[in-house]
Amino acid sequence: MSARFRIADLAAAKQAGRPIVMATAYDFSSAIALDAGGVDIALVGDSAAMTVLGLPATRDVTLDEMLMLTRAVRRGLVEAMLVGDLPFGTYEQSDEQAVATARLFADIGCDAVKMEGAGATALRARAVIAAGIPVMGHVGLRPQQLVAGQQAHVEARSADDAMTLLDDAKALESAGCFAIVFEAVPAPVMTALAPYIRVPTIGIGAGPSTDGQVLVTHDLLGLTAGHVPKFVKRYGELRRDMTDAVARYADDVRARRFPDTAHSYGIRDAEVDALRARLSVGSSM
Ligand code: KIV
Repeated sequence: MSARFRIADLAAAKQAGRPIVMATAYDFSSAIALDAGGVDIALVGDSAAMTVLGLPATRDVTLDEMLMLTRAVRRGLVEAMLVGDLPFGTYEQSDEQAVATARLFADIGCDAVKMEGAGATALRARAVIAAGIPVMGHVGLRPQQLVAGQQAHVEARSADDAMTLLDDAKALESAGCFAIVFEAVPAPVMTALAPYIRVPTIGIGAGPSTDGQVLVTHDLLGLTAGHVPKFVKRYGELRRDMTDAVARYADDVRARRFPDTAHSYGIRDAEVDALRARLSVGSSM
């Protein structure tokens, strides 16, 4: 990418049939990597709860934790658009609450915020958009509805549920959302619904018919421990690579192979001799 990706670019990409690439970022270094890898949108997802904080569910991450991670990503990101995920419990109560929370993310430098659900969330989204902060919607599986230990499931597996999903998406579209994430939706359902949705759609486990794709970066890099959903494709094995690297470091330290001269600072021999001479005088006193 040569120029900073902006909200208008999403609509242009949809129009041109150019797939939109989105991935999660949680820190400074991964933000730099996402930019360098040419990602269009970096999402500071509340999946941070599990990926970086080791918490059981997305609803366990706090607003302060999300803001801290978002600031770190902002420092690293130059090209990609930055979207902040509003965490559970920080936007549902009232329009005022939603706007106040969204403003915290906008003040950090987010280009937009993401909110889960339709229904009341569509009303909150409308209020946030009216306050001048762009909103990305999120329908289908809504991880914030899952409590610790509860299994994620595929949504919209019947025609009735698929029609409800479309209603949800249309409500978010009417509210003014500039894009909508569809999570864990059968591919044929997404293919059938796609022509009826005007705003760009970003899929995660929703098949190939969406205008873009998003994955949790820890999943695509192979950093995630344990179960990963069927829709995840691994593009790296970083957990294995990290473990190997740390084990080799530990071996080197224990065998006194590290640090070697290549990884140590030196001084002139004459200074070392002078230092030794002074130390030996000192020790004889
Ligand atoms: O928090 C997150 O990572 C997300 C993506 C799965 C879209 O919301």
